[in-house]
Amino acid sequence: MCCSDPSNKKPENEPKVSIDWSKVLVSRDEFLKLVGVTCAGFIGLIVAIPAVGFAFEYFLVPRKEDWIKVGPVGQYEVGKTVDVVFTDTTGTPWDGVCAKRTAWLRRVDEGSFEAFAVNCTHLGCPVRWEAGAELFMCPCHGGVYYSDGNVAGGPPPRPLHKYPTRIAKGQVEIKVGPVLTES
Ligand code: FES
Repeated sequence: MCCSDPSNKKPENEPKVSIDWSKVLVSRDEFLKLVGVTCAGFIGLIVAIPAVGFAFEYFLVPRKEDWIKVGPVGQYEVGKTVDVVFTDTTGTPWDGVCAKRTAWLRRVDEGSFEAFAVNCTHLGCPVRWEAGAELFMCPCHGGVYYSDGNVAGGPPPRPLHKYPTRIAKGQVEIKVGPVLTES
């Protein structure tokens, strides 16, 4: 006791500090509310991030277009419709096999081609070309299209979507991009 520092000694008349813990701690209801709001905010963030990313890409990133070669003009017969497979180069690097596309290509005459998207304009099933009947048939609900892509019967509301085509340096090219034109 002889060595204790007198400055550490509490003055005897110092007021006692009492803490009202009921005001410091949150109640169970408030705590649960806080947890609920935090979880809802977190879930909202998880949902919002992809949506914001999509909106950013859709509205601010310029849409790409490209002409894709699908073979020399001479390999296609006038009046014949055949399927062509190509890689859509306007997508993203991680598209992988999803960048593979098929189109129905028709050589209309010596100098012009028509290319149709394979997807039915009703609900998107792939249509097949029936050479004997000269019709595109949809296997899902019986949609039928003429050789020029116009609707011949069934539920499709619109003609088949068309890709623009051109001939460049002896090659047939199909224009790919985000929006296809209709017949
Ligand atoms: S998806 Fe082709 S007719 Fe329905």
